[in-house]
Amino acid sequence: MTESNSSFDLIISGADLMLSSPKSPTQFKVEQMDIGIRDGKIEQMGTLPKSSAKEVFDAKGLLVLPGLIDTQVHFREPGLEHKENIQYGSRSAVAGGITAFFEMPNTNPPTTTLEAFRKKVEIGENTSYSDFAFYGGAAHDNIDLLPKLENERGCCGIKVFMGSSTGTLLIENDDLLKKVLLKTKKRIAVHAEDEPRLLERRTVSENSAGDVSKHAEWRDAESALIATKRLHKLVVELKHPAHLLHVSTRDEMEFLAEHKSEFMTVEVTPQHLTLESPDCYLNLGTLAQMNPPIRSTEHRQALWKALQSGVVDIIGSDHAPHTLDEKNNDYPNTPSGMPGVQTSLPILLNHASKGRMKIEDIVRFMCVNPVEIFGIKDRGYIAPGFEASLTIVDLKKESVITDDWIESKVGWTPFRDQTVKGWPIATLIRGKFAMKNGELHKVETRPLQFLER
Ligand code: DOR
Repeated sequence: MTESNSSFDLIISGADLMLSSPKSPTQFKVEQMDIGIRDGKIEQMGTLPKSSAKEVFDAKGLLVLPGLIDTQVHFREPGLEHKENIQYGSRSAVAGGITAFFEMPNTNPPTTTLEAFRKKVEIGENTSYSDFAFYGGAAHDNIDLLPKLENERGCCGIKVFMGSSTGTLLIENDDLLKKVLLKTKKRIAVHAEDEPRLLERRTVSENSAGDVSKHAEWRDAESALIATKRLHKLVVELKHPAHLLHVSTRDEMEFLAEHKSEFMTVEVTPQHLTLESPDCYLNLGTLAQMNPPIRSTEHRQALWKALQSGVVDIIGSDHAPHTLDEKNNDYPNTPSGMPGVQTSLPILLNHASKGRMKIEDIVRFMCVNPVEIFGIKDRGYIAPGFEASLTIVDLKKESVITDDWIESKVGWTPFRDQTVKGWPIATLIRGKFAMKNGELHKVETRPLQFLER
């Protein structure tokens, strides 16, 4: 057949498809069908004549998910490229089955001006292996600019640090936070740790004699709870949507379960669900250091309970790479954060293989909910008319996670040597393979598009 007669650019053949629809986004069913793709979109599904395609990918025995999206990564560009950049961060994303990311503004310069924001979009367009969106950052001196910043092409919203972490961005009191809420319309993403309490307790880390497990004592559960309650009060009062990032404590989850509202969506990370103190600090030392910290079993178990009972909306990786050299200093002279964009899906698939969650939960937390909560256009479902941005997994494949496999510039993972069951086999961006059987390909990528609300 000549090219011009082909009705499909690509057929994904014989796979199981994880199906749901915008009308009932979280009612999933799995059906075996072919997917016919043309011009980057899903054109047709069913039993399709393979001769009508330029390319056929035999996916029998594999499961196709709508393209997963990581709504919290730090790719460090510009300014901190010795740790990461958009090219390598996004290579890491597609290697791990992620088709798009929301990237954080604590770069250098921080993403607090239109110029800095547009520069990132330009870098994304030139170098990213996956689709992308960026957060603008809220700072003391840019609050009047926020309405413009949040409406930039490729902007997923404004990020607020209520407690200081990596970088200089900080909105430490309620007056400032209220101003940010009054200026913005889109859902703001918030790192909730209470800055006054962190400052008050700083000596806990200063007097730690290099013991990194003190990190969780310094930035304690109360610091997180105070900030979450402060934020909750304001967003409910002002009826302004917020997205609470990387919730790490039982205390917050109990509060959020009682006060669940559309104004406060909730994220957890795979590392808070998987690692726990004291073991993580004994085994990984400062590699396990992050903000908010990895905490004890009771907190980890409460996160699982919240995940299963509807309190959690999204799983984001908080991919926050630092070099081994930086991590090898003595605590507290060590940066907080760990890479994760590449390991999220394998780690979650492994949890699913052990019966701790369902595959459809992964799709809900990493695709459907991000699409619905942030209003991402043309994504989220395997159905005709939607983008053919897809994540293909093998639920039976057992693999060992190694540092060598990690595409991130820092080349390490806290999950090193872990055997997992379930593995990403291919990542498609609008019908093109950005990753196929572990090999990466640079395909055309673009900023995610958001619905006007
Ligand atoms: O551990 C963290 N690292 N938490 C953050 O909030 C920031 C991140 C980073 O950028 O390194």
